[in-house]
Amino acid sequence: MTASAAPHGYTLALWTATAVTSSEQGAPGAAEVLALLAGATLAFVALAAAAHGTAPMTPDSSAHAGTRIWAAFHLPMAACAALVSLLLTRCCSGPLLWGLVGTTATAVYLLGVSAQFLCFAVRHDTQQTQTLTHQRFTTPLALDPAAQDLLFRQAGTVDSFADEPVTDDQIEAVYELIKYAPTSMNQQPLRIVLVRSAQARERLAEHLSQGNRNKSAAAPLVAVLAADHEVHGELPSQFPHLPQARDLFAERAVRERSANLDALLQVGYFIIGVRAAGLAAGPMTGFDPEGIDKEFFSDGEHSVLAVVNIGRPGENARCTRSPRLTYAQVVTTV
Ligand SMILES: Cc1cc2nc3c(=O)[nH]c(=O)nc-3n(C[C@H](O)[C@H](O)[C@H](O)COP(=O)(O)O)c2cc1C
Repeated sequence: MTASAAPHGYTLALWTATAVTSSEQGAPGAAEVLALLAGATLAFVALAAAAHGTAPMTPDSSAHAGTRIWAAFHLPMAACAALVSLLLTRCCSGPLLWGLVGTTATAVYLLGVSAQFLCFAVRHDTQQTQTLTHQRFTTPLALDPAAQDLLFRQAGTVDSFADEPVTDDQIEAVYELIKYAPTSMNQQPLRIVLVRSAQARERLAEHLSQGNRNKSAAAPLVAVLAADHEVHGELPSQFPHLPQARDLFAERAVRERSANLDALLQVGYFIIGVRAAGLAAGPMTGFDPEGIDKEFFSDGEHSVLAVVNIGRPGENARCTRSPRLTYAQVVTTV
């Protein structure tokens, strides 16, 4: 009820103030109505000029339902406007009175509504200190703070998942996003095997370390990520502006090293891409790589780099975040 008063709050305040003044002074003439209008306009313009550029926030239509109670401010403000008008009728009369009623009713109402926004802002700030923290820390970042949280701050390695499938469409969307991330000479050696069937899961589980088996078994989807060592064959189409690029990888050791490095980068991109889909990724390297290579890549030209459990995090899935090295520990400037 109070929330629905919000869009009509000012009308309510001005009508009430006008009604109180009329009941004390009699119905207004044309000059008095114009004075009322002029007074209201004056208050609007004066307050707008005073507040220009300083408003702390605008109301958020997506705010939590609990915050909308602040709409209740509209009703007491209409009552305040009426009270002030009643007091004014005791001091003056004629167009001056009506002008003052217009100005004060408008000012009282608008100041009340501003107080509402201010209270909301203070409440919002206290409840969301975390949001403020990252606003402070991330000012130089162009990425939206909610996206920063989704990809990094609130994302974590998850071992327990909700009972909700991960679809091929979701993984395709992840790939369509991460394929734009860079690799050397645009080689893109990452290969992804989606392990879905019970039989394939069993084949994979045999090669996982004991501690990782249950984690994979609990995941709606498991992806085996590997490097393709023969990817240089794609160079003529993927790096066309350097026709001799393929020759640079003639030596097996060179192309293996290059493919492993680039594919590892792509593993990182993949984990972030999974998070971008609102899913959690549990990367693992606790496995027998030769066993997985034989099991899933019989050509001898691939090497597994990571096995990633994927799914929507289950309830209580997040553990406490382990500490991270500080900027000062990691970064040096020379
Ligand atoms: C390349 C890689 C290999 C990992 N291997 C395993 C693993 O074999 N088993 C496991 O339980 N967690 C594994 N993890 C998870 C890490 O322990 C975890 O990401 C790290 O502790 C950070 O945790 P957080 O993401 O929840 O902050 C691996 C993570 C990465 C990136």
